[in-house]
Formats: sequence, C-alpha cells, structure tokens
Amino acid sequence: MRLKDKVALITGAASGMGRIAAKLFAAEGAKVAIADVTEPAGEGTAKEIRSAGGEAAFIRTDVSKAADVEAMVRFAQDKFGGLHILYNNAGIFHPEDAGTVETAVEIWDRVIDINLKGVWLGCKFGIPALLRSGGGVIINVASFVALVGAATPQIAYTASKGGVLAMTREIAVEYARQGIRANALCPGPVETPMLAELLKDPSRRARRLVHIPIGRFGRAEEIARAALWLASDESSLMTGAALVVDGGITAAYVTPE
Ligand SMILES: NC(=O)c1ccc[n+]([C@@H]2O[C@H](COP(=O)([O-])OP(=O)(O)OC[C@H]3O[C@@H](n4cnc5c(N)ncnc54)[C@H](O)[C@@H]3O)[C@@H](O)[C@H]2O)c1
Repeated sequence: MRLKDKVALITGAASGMGRIAAKLFAAEGAKVAIADVTEPAGEGTAKEIRSAGGEAAFIRTDVSKAADVEAMVRFAQDKFGGLHILYNNAGIFHPEDAGTVETAVEIWDRVIDINLKGVWLGCKFGIPALLRSGGGVIINVASFVALVGAATPQIAYTASKGGVLAMTREIAVEYARQGIRANALCPGPVETPMLAELLKDPSRRARRLVHIPIGRFGRAEEIARAALWLASDESSLMTGAALVVDGGITAAYVTPE
C-alpha cells in the first residue's frame, strides 16, 4: 500500500482521470475526498470506492468559487482528520475556445476561472491544511499544451495550463523547506469524456494521432499511475517539476511513419 493512512483530496474526480485516480489512490490505502461540480457522478465515484472496501466521501464543489474550495478543504480535514495529498485535477475544455482572435472574452474568463484560478484556490486553501498535517504533496494538472503550441488552437485552455505549470514551480520553491512538494502533471491527449466529442470525428482524431510517436491516445489509468507516483514517497526528491506523460509528443519533430 503506497498511500496507507494518507488523506487525498482530488478535484474533478467524478469523471475521467480524476475518477480513475481516486479509485487507485483508495486501493493504495488513501482516504479520498472527492470534489466535483457534477453531483451524481461525484457521489458515484465515492460509492464505487466504498463498495470496494475503501474510504471516500464526496463534496459538491465549483473550483472557481473561493467559498466552495475553502469548504472542500475543511470537509476533507473534518471527515478524515488531515490532508496529505492535494490533487488539483478539475478542468474544462470549452468547444468555443479557439484561436486568439476568434475566442470570446466570456469563454476566456470561464476557462481561466476553472483551469487556472481553480488550481490556485485549491493551493491557497489547501496549503495551510497540508502544513497542519506536517507537510504533503500537491499535484497540479497542466497539459502537454503548456509545453508546445498547436495549429488547432484553444488559446484560453493553453494559457491556463501554462499558468498552472509556472505557478506550480513557484509554489514548489515557496514551500520546499516546509515539507510540501508540488509538481505539475502534463498528460498528452487521453481518451476521457473531455476529449470524447472531439475524437469522435475521424479527421480530427487522425490530425492529432499523427503527432503521437507512440501511435495511440493515452488511457486514464496511465496518467493515474503517474499521479500515484507523484503522490507517494517514491518521488520524494521531485518538486517543482513537470512530469510529462504524453506518448512522446513533446519529444518529436517528425513522428514514425
Ligand atoms: N483528456 C485529455 O486529453 C487531457 C490532456 C491533458 C490534460 N488534461 C487535463 O486533465 C484534467 C482531467 O481531465 P479529464 O480528461 O479527466 O476530463 P473529464 O471531463 O473527464 O473530467 C473533468 C472533471 O472536472 C469536473 N469539473 C469541471 N469543471 C469543474 C468545476 N468548476 N469545479 C469542479 N469540478 C469541475 C468535471 O465535472 C469532470 O468530472 C483536466 O484538468 C484536463 O484539462 C486532459
């Protein structure tokens, strides 16, 4: 058990990678607080964990709202007696988020509010709880688009993820001597509900696939296992880093035929 007796708080754990990570963390001994804006599905993740013999509880949270995030951290602490792992995973990918010129101001604001401000709020309210528990680990979900640009732009999404990466470095440095490690996780394209709509279209699917050296999209389990490593003591020297799990996208200039 790699997370025995740890308390983990995972945002966006009603779906996709967060849901799979919540189940994996619980199977590794963590008590998991599940925070998501989607209520029945969030409760569903918690129930799945409990029926498998694990410990989990759900709290409805909109990560872009300070009061919700403050309440989410309090909930995790009160329910499970502390906080050791803060996994800021919630994020959106807006269908109207497009080019620099075309993207509407309201879309920009919404994406930044959830993907960037939401991660900051998680850290703002989560760090004091981690410190009270004697230190811990922060995992902030960025993306490979924080590292490379694309001609199929989602400008607000890309900016939000670049912000997450820069902010995570600074948090890591700020709290390095106080027992908190903070790392950014940068997945490549992963087949989750977030990408389902886009990947249904064969030409948009092929347009992306051609850039992935490994020749396929990622699976949520593959990212959850990387997050588990970041959350565990096995990564004890790692802080302020970007863990890139992208099938080789950011390493490639030309991909194999
Ligand atoms: N799928 C990919 O290809 C990919 C690649 C790189 C990074 N990411 C990032 O990984 C994270 C997880 O994505 P996923 O693919 O599992 O997506 P997903 O859509 O399956 O899950 C995201 C979860 O976040 C929740 N959420 C959305 N807005 C919220 C809010 N305001 N407050 C609380 N919860 C909210 C959703 O309800 C959902 O449960 C996101 O940050 C995403 O940007 C995804």
